[in-house]
Amino acid sequence: MERIRTQVGIVGAGPAGLLLGHLLHLQGIESVEIENRSREYCESRIRAGVLEHGTAETLAQSGVGERMKREGLVHHGIYLRFRRRSHHIHFPELTGGKSIMVYGQHEVVKDLIAARLSAGARIFFDVEETSVGGLENATPWIRFRAGGRDQEIVCDFIAGCDGFHGMCRPAIPPQALRAHEHVFPFAWLGILASVEPSSDELIYARHERGFALLSMRSPQVSRLYLQCAPDEELEAWSDARIWAELQARFANDEGWTLREGPITQKGVTAMRAFLTEPMQYRRLFLLGDAAHIVPPTGAKGLNLAVADVRVFARALDAFYKHGRTDLLERYSETCLRRVWKAERFSNWMTTMLHLGNGSEFIESLHMAELDYVTSSRAAMTTLAENYVGLPYEDE
Ligand code: PHB
Repeated sequence: MERIRTQVGIVGAGPAGLLLGHLLHLQGIESVEIENRSREYCESRIRAGVLEHGTAETLAQSGVGERMKREGLVHHGIYLRFRRRSHHIHFPELTGGKSIMVYGQHEVVKDLIAARLSAGARIFFDVEETSVGGLENATPWIRFRAGGRDQEIVCDFIAGCDGFHGMCRPAIPPQALRAHEHVFPFAWLGILASVEPSSDELIYARHERGFALLSMRSPQVSRLYLQCAPDEELEAWSDARIWAELQARFANDEGWTLREGPITQKGVTAMRAFLTEPMQYRRLFLLGDAAHIVPPTGAKGLNLAVADVRVFARALDAFYKHGRTDLLERYSETCLRRVWKAERFSNWMTTMLHLGNGSEFIESLHMAELDYVTSSRAAMTTLAENYVGLPYEDE
């Protein structure tokens, strides 16, 4: 077995693992990263594409925001559409000037991989037979097979950035974690279409037939979603049926029309809320989806991962530069305060905008909520400040 000694062993080359490796490198802390997928897979996996104000700043300030600044789309708000009318929530006006950046997660991943590799980073892609252990010791390990050879990373800390289905969280004794989970009784059918987005900003629509969302990836590519059943059969959805359903749910009295185009990708996204308390066991720290999942309605997933990475990178900096352990000890507590607020916000947006299994009374309350949030400046502000991202605690 070949042995690699480093300070931080990172499991997963998604946005969390890559950004962590990047920030640590800037702080002079060494890391080695493994990923069980290929580089191509990581760079093309389509996920949500909304960056909070602070996420975009974190990327820009750490030197990986050049392409984002050129190609990303700055949005100053979103539209909420119900009863065939749109209501604009203007973020800068409500948040002291903050906006969001629409830039695909896989673009962020591409930029980070390029930065890591040009800095000489050691990232092993396509690894197999991964395991972590030695968590009770001062030097935990990560074992894997790459290029036909068994390898072992021995490190001071392991960063579990390997997503909801990864191996790090299950490596923690179950009695050491408390998990919270909520599965929503619906899912999203999502498409990518080669057509100019029909709106300058995202439209979240609630309709008697269910929720629909119009988003985008570029001036030529639209991203759209439809509320569907959790076990929805994709085969039952021809392109024509998808467009007809989208047309019905976005119907309006404002003369707005939905442009149609060739559908290039289809998929069903489950809607789940999950988190684990704490987000750490000994020298294994969980970041991003490995520790928490939000339903996609508030577009918080990637943004929460970036917030975790900031907290962990600062805690490691204090540890290596000044021998301080207090920030590492408070890692979970610090992250979870933000995570719970994002869970709250995502849950609120989801419930308000989707057709539930609720009574007519409950569904009418959701319509009243929409009326309120589009008519009261105080209510609009709570949506706006959460959507652009609450302030970081580590600033
Ligand atoms: C997306 O563009 O994929 C997207 C945007 C906003 C959301 C969720 C997904 O709330």
